[in-house]
Amino acid sequence: MAEKHFKYVILGGGVAAGYAAREFVKLGLNPGELAIISKESVAPYERPALSKGYLFPQGAARLPGFHVCVGSGGERLLPEWYAEKGIELILGTEIVKADLASKTLTSAADVIIKYDILIIATGSTVIRLSDFGVQGADANNIFYLREIDDADKLVAAIHAKKDGKAVIVGGGYIGLELGAALKINNLDVTMVYPEPWCMPRLFTAGIAAFYEGYYANKGIKIIKGTVAVGFDSDANGDVTAVRLKDGRVLEADIVVVGVGGRPLITLFKGQVEEEKGGIKTDGFFKTSIPDVYAVGDVATFPLKLYNEQRRVEHVDHARKSAEQAVKAIKAVEESESIEEYDYLPYFYSRSFDLSWQFYGDNVGDTILFGDNDPTSAKPKFGTYWIKEGKVVGVFLESGSLEENKLIAKVAKLQPPVQDPEQLEKEGLAFASKI
Ligand code: FDA
Ligand code: NAD
Repeated sequence: MAEKHFKYVILGGGVAAGYAAREFVKLGLNPGELAIISKESVAPYERPALSKGYLFPQGAARLPGFHVCVGSGGERLLPEWYAEKGIELILGTEIVKADLASKTLTSAADVIIKYDILIIATGSTVIRLSDFGVQGADANNIFYLREIDDADKLVAAIHAKKDGKAVIVGGGYIGLELGAALKINNLDVTMVYPEPWCMPRLFTAGIAAFYEGYYANKGIKIIKGTVAVGFDSDANGDVTAVRLKDGRVLEADIVVVGVGGRPLITLFKGQVEEEKGGIKTDGFFKTSIPDVYAVGDVATFPLKLYNEQRRVEHVDHARKSAEQAVKAIKAVEESESIEEYDYLPYFYSRSFDLSWQFYGDNVGDTILFGDNDPTSAKPKFGTYWIKEGKVVGVFLESGSLEENKLIAKVAKLQPPVQDPEQLEKEGLAFASKI
């Protein structure tokens, strides 16, 4: 049985792993000290590209174009960069057993990897319709999107089913981004989701009405308030139709499912403290086990601004938590201290010509401002969330770079609101005064 040992091991080779590697090098890393183990066969890349540029019909993004850290305007870390720095990329390798007590990881091919310090960065996996026993959910051409191999299969199907019919199951991030991507590829798109409006975990009815109207104007059909309960397929096993709970049957050549994600923490069950579905950490991303850190989607960390433990499944936090964990590891080694993580939640999405950003917390009363008419030539609108008389969250569609910086500042500073009606009238002007 092959055995390897490293001072530092990052388990998972996604966004957080790449940003952690860069931070290690920045703070001083000797060749041979660090290994990144990934199930995927490519070096860390900016995962958000998979549901956007990767699916463009022309000029599509392809590796090595979007390796980390280009997504945040940083240096692109090609496989050669890792080799130059003496970082071992152990790719195409799934870890199937983790023994935190003996600091030992075991791969599917029985390779043993030992570490002194472990960073868990295994991210999320998709929730599958077969998890709820939806009949026929294993038919061909029913796709999920998490990793680059999933995206490649979807691209092949888009080419094979040219101008065909696509059904998108789910009205969250994947649903909205993939609905647009398939429409741009000239498929006939129908979206289905159970809630009264899309992206209910962030959008208000007012925000969602804009996107639903905009998508409808692009020719996308939206069916709300029902779910997929079964799929029909032909003699080849290819999906032909989606059966809905309300009795409707939708023809389909391609189905994309985006019904949520689940953090990948099963390897560590019973060995490490958990909270809110993730691995519990402190403000340095240290877990309950010495020398074990957890970052990105899997970490449930103290969100200082709101005085509460949270898990965040977005790329900005994956990058920043990875950097914080490495800073903390180095600080311990050098008997120095660093500040606790003080994160301002930041989410964004892009589809068609649209682009929104959100900062802060979406709790409390809301005030919609600006032009959210989907038929406007240049719609631009936003929403403030107000809790206990203070603005705690801000959403903005089609903001400029400067305006997005302004809304981030508002969400961080939480200015008081005297008169909500005045705030509605002022809209973005309120943010520019802060
Ligand atoms: P990430 O999922 O990036 O990486 C985990 C890695 O661990 C993977 O390479 C996986 O193969 C590997 N792994 C897991 N278990 C393993 C095992 N047992 N052995 C070996 N390797 C293992 N966010 C945002 O803010 N804006 C956006 O636009 C988007 N867009 C977007 C599109 C798509 C298609 C997805 C799927 C997700 C997004 N996100 C996003 C979310 C964002 O990409 C996500 O939060 C980060 O990638 C999380 O980074 P991590 O490094 O934690 O996990
Ligand atoms: P999500 O949680 O955003 O959305 C899930 C949606 O699934 C719900 O809104 C609901 O409409 C729908 N749903 C739930 N059960 C259903 C059912 N039985 N039938 C039909 N619809 C059902 O999750 P997602 O869109 O699958 O995204 C997966 C992960 O990828 C998340 O971690 C997300 O943060 C991440 N992601 C983020 C971005 C971004 O930040 N721009 C983009 C893509 C993916």
